[in-house]
Amino acid sequence: MAAAAGTPAVPTTATVTTTAAGSGGSSASSSSPPVAIVTGGAQGIGRAISTQLLGAGYRVVVADIDAEAGADFLKTLTSKADRDRCTFIQTDVSKESQIKALIDGTVRAYGNRIDAIVNNAAIARATYGADPHTAAHDSSAAASDSKSANADAAPKPHPLETLSLETFNQYLAVNVTSVFLIAKYGLPYLKRSQPNGAPPTAGSPLSTSAIVNISSTRALQSEPFTEPYSTTKGAVLALTHSLAVSLGSERVRVNCVSPGWIDVSSLQKTSSAIKPAVLTATDHSQHPVGRVGVGSDISELVLFLCDGSKSGFITGQNFVVDGGMTKKMIYT
Ligand SMILES: NC(=O)c1ccc[n+]([C@@H]2O[C@H](COP(=O)([O-])OP(=O)(O)OC[C@H]3O[C@@H](n4cnc5c(N)ncnc54)[C@H](O)[C@@H]3O)[C@@H](O)[C@H]2O)c1
Repeated sequence: MAAAAGTPAVPTTATVTTTAAGSGGSSASSSSPPVAIVTGGAQGIGRAISTQLLGAGYRVVVADIDAEAGADFLKTLTSKADRDRCTFIQTDVSKESQIKALIDGTVRAYGNRIDAIVNNAAIARATYGADPHTAAHDSSAAASDSKSANADAAPKPHPLETLSLETFNQYLAVNVTSVFLIAKYGLPYLKRSQPNGAPPTAGSPLSTSAIVNISSTRALQSEPFTEPYSTTKGAVLALTHSLAVSLGSERVRVNCVSPGWIDVSSLQKTSSAIKPAVLTATDHSQHPVGRVGVGSDISELVLFLCDGSKSGFITGQNFVVDGGMTKKMIYT
């Protein structure tokens, strides 16, 4: 059973017996499938990424604060091969102890290696502390909800004068500090997934391991009163190039994907109150590519960035995936 929120993370596997578990080698082997952790991997873009990596043969640890969503995601795995290669570990990424438990649980399940970490978990609507004056703004955000299931399309507005420090810090803890902590505690295993001593080789999946951080186009542009969310997404960009330079010699590549508007309404847990998105022709046509994004627009790129045989010469970069919206000039 999954652990309750706030308690140490406990692995929950898709099957009673984790056939992939305990493959346990101390170094990378081309015969053992690579291991990836996806935070916030049970719903939304993270769910699309977890599914994509499983489909590509990875062993995937889905780390999410929402145990119900984790169980729900495991039920979506129709193939035994996927179920055997997937483990859910309930994790609040804002808690250092739970990140340590996540890394320990991953190693217990799949051996002494981690090939890829996807830092996807984030909040766009912190609830900590009382920001009582946000009610008026919340009504506009709620209106957006009926149109788009994803919070990033309408992060909670926090009027500056009533924004509490606790709320600001909650955004930082979930969206930024977690990325630092996962890199810190995951690094020993990211390093161990590579062949000892041999120089990096073009085309070899084992030449590099990868961290992929999910930021947002809101790191680059803003709506009013979204300072906490935008700040955290900008910090993720900076943390990406900083880690990339620091960890290059360890053969760990670190890249960032910044989504624009991605409709995640079909990627939520079954019981979720989020309604299916009702997207208008205008929603789609305002994008230069003519449509709102979907989960696979992001997950395909994440898979590419995780795979050192394909993206081994790419590190420290930010990839904007927004249907061209941030390149569109608007004077109205
Ligand atoms: N959907 C978009 O339009 C969009 C656009 C730009 C960026 N993003 C980014 O993409 C990522 C995913 O967004 P989404 O729209 O799929 O969100 P979502 O809300 O659909 O999914 C987020 C997942 O993260 C989990 N989560 C939340 N807090 C957590 C915590 N403390 N610890 C562990 N897990 C936690 C949730 O339970 C959920 O399963 C986020 O980083 C978000 O900022 C999304």
